[in-house]
Amino acid sequence: MKQLDYQHIWNALPFPTFIIDINTIIIDGNSAAEQMVHTSQNQMRGKLVSNFFGSNSVILETIKQAKDQNSSLTQYDVALTSADRITISCNLHINFLDNDNGSLLIIIQPTSGAQKMSQSVTHSTSARSVTAMASMLAHEIRNPLAGISGAAQLLAMNANSDDIELAEMIGQESNRIGTLVDRFESFSDVRLASHHAFNIHDILDRAIRSSSVGFGASAEYIKEYDPSLPDASGDEDQMLQVFQNILKNASESIGSVRGQIKIRTSYKSGVKFSVLGNKIETLPLQIEIIDNGKGISPNIIDEIFEPFVSSKVNGTGLGLSLVSKIVTGHGGLVECASDEKGASFIVRLPVWKLSSKESK
Ligand SMILES: Nc1ncnc2c1ncn2[C@@H]1O[C@H](COP(=O)(O)OP(=O)(O)OP(=O)(O)O)[C@@H](O)[C@H]1O
Ligand SMILES: [Mg+2]
Repeated sequence: MKQLDYQHIWNALPFPTFIIDINTIIIDGNSAAEQMVHTSQNQMRGKLVSNFFGSNSVILETIKQAKDQNSSLTQYDVALTSADRITISCNLHINFLDNDNGSLLIIIQPTSGAQKMSQSVTHSTSARSVTAMASMLAHEIRNPLAGISGAAQLLAMNANSDDIELAEMIGQESNRIGTLVDRFESFSDVRLASHHAFNIHDILDRAIRSSSVGFGASAEYIKEYDPSLPDASGDEDQMLQVFQNILKNASESIGSVRGQIKIRTSYKSGVKFSVLGNKIETLPLQIEIIDNGKGISPNIIDEIFEPFVSSKVNGTGLGLSLVSKIVTGHGGLVECASDEKGASFIVRLPVWKLSSKESK
């Protein structure tokens, strides 16, 4: 077999990638890195990272954290400014290449396109306006709706067989509106999440059970749990809702064919999340829900966590918006990705000890 040309692979990587030594001196950068810092590979070798990103850069801060904890880490959704003052939003991956001499691989992954993360900042603004409207609607609709279904039941008692059918239809459709109002109300429910330690696998099992006897009865559920996963913290009922909504979407995407939904949990020690100016959260609990359905439509993937974004005839588009609201309310984040093999959702959460300490 022809030997692999690693230089070619290195330069074909789509994300700016650097190798640096322990003193943050650049050993190498790929073609994407060249374009990012407008400097040739030869020119950047031997220069300090701070020459290209400034001495207060989030890159240096993240490298320091990785060194301090002596482990690879990923910092999500950071705003990275290069020396020419262009700021991009990206995920920063810092990996140790060789612990003996402390050289590091830095991958700068811009956050757009294929991978979408729930933006807690933008989301909370739109969620607030929807929340107010949702509670107003739920309140205003419920009373007349009760009157309509009561009247339909009275009509059905005295009607002939043709009219009974119509009266029943009124009843059924009123129930449908009632369910919709319930969903609106759950969206507007702004009660603070109660804070308990809970086992994420118990919640996942409950969500899978209700999915497998209901909307997702035809799917095959494959569990890949890490049994040593520590407890999460927060409101179990809300978290159950999160996984039910994600599982419902997955089963709707695979349809009536016997598709597969994989539920995988793992502990990722290097995952940090920060929105500029906010404190850094450690989010080591990772829950992935991967389906082999038709995948997420590229038209909506960028807005998928916004309220009312739906590709379904009867969809409210509130499912994932609620997921994002609950997960960010628990100090976590949710991401999605999609390709021709299907869609995947990753929920990342803090562990119980850390979050309970922070909530004091
Ligand atoms: N697993 C998935 N595979 C493919 N598309 C998905 C998946 N999950 C979500 N989507 C897309 O995201 C959209 C928004 O999902 P969301 O749950 O917010 O609303 P919905 O499912 O359309 O409506 P509702 O949840 O009220 O039934 C969906 O309409 C669908 O197009
Ligand atoms: Mg949904």
